[in-house]
Amino acid sequence: MLLSVENLEVKYGNIQALHGISFNVKEGEIVTLIGANGAGKTTSLYSIARLAPPEAPKVVGGDIRFMGESILNTAPSDVVKNLKLALVPEGRHIFGNLTVMENLELATYSRDKDADLDKDYQRIFDLFPRLAERRKQRSESLSGGEQQMLAVGRALMTGCRALMLDEPSMGLAPVLKYELFRTLKKLNEEGMTLLLVEQNAKLALDIAHRGYVLDTGTIAASGTSEELAGNPEVRKAYLGG
Ligand SMILES: Nc1ncnc2c1ncn2[C@@H]1O[C@H](COP(=O)(O)OP(=O)(O)OP(=O)(O)O)[C@@H](O)[C@H]1O
Ligand SMILES: [Mg+2]
Repeated sequence: MLLSVENLEVKYGNIQALHGISFNVKEGEIVTLIGANGAGKTTSLYSIARLAPPEAPKVVGGDIRFMGESILNTAPSDVVKNLKLALVPEGRHIFGNLTVMENLELATYSRDKDADLDKDYQRIFDLFPRLAERRKQRSESLSGGEQQMLAVGRALMTGCRALMLDEPSMGLAPVLKYELFRTLKKLNEEGMTLLLVEQNAKLALDIAHRGYVLDTGTIAASGTSEELAGNPEVRKAYLGG
């Protein structure tokens, strides 16, 4: 198992956001966490990324294991550098006054000196040809969809083996959503493991192998994407009937 979250309980101050949830991700999989506003999706990703205070959700019970080892004492920078697990946060958080290329370069600061960065830049420009055309453009002038591509590209430039994505479809026009999700699927087919958080359950289940439904800090359902898409309660609550 690449990642296992075991009976995880998380609080923000006195507010308990996760009530002992368990889920796991195998190498090579796309696993999705779906659920409504406030379900605890972002909290789950932030807990795994070990984000530093003051934003940090506090783990008060359970464990998070990566390749069998607990990572509760791992620094956020080591999650990226050593575990090679990168987060694409909701809202992208790219540097608008820097160019596309500069944003990508920034993500390489923790890479080994002998890493073949040219090959990695080329891979990102192959995945996202629009970024190649705009590599010298200031990022704030990109469209929302292009900014999301850049956020994914930047995470890939860390040299990660697994990506966590928080609501990548948010705010994108339908055609761009489909384009982005096709690219995510392609990335997975090339070997990248994905943990995908989405409110758009239909899009997520279309590309994921398995999924979990989060409901107010608990796991309400889990299964293969086919099972979840065929589950009447999931259909009613998240797939429009
Ligand atoms: N920084 C914070 N301080 C206090 N409570 C928080 C904080 N962040 C999240 N919460 C609470 O934790 C719970 C889970 O929130 P979380 O952001 O993980 O949900 P989500 O599933 O990502 O929702 P959304 O779909 O709206 O992004 C909510 O009740 C939320 O109000
Ligand atoms: Mg969220």
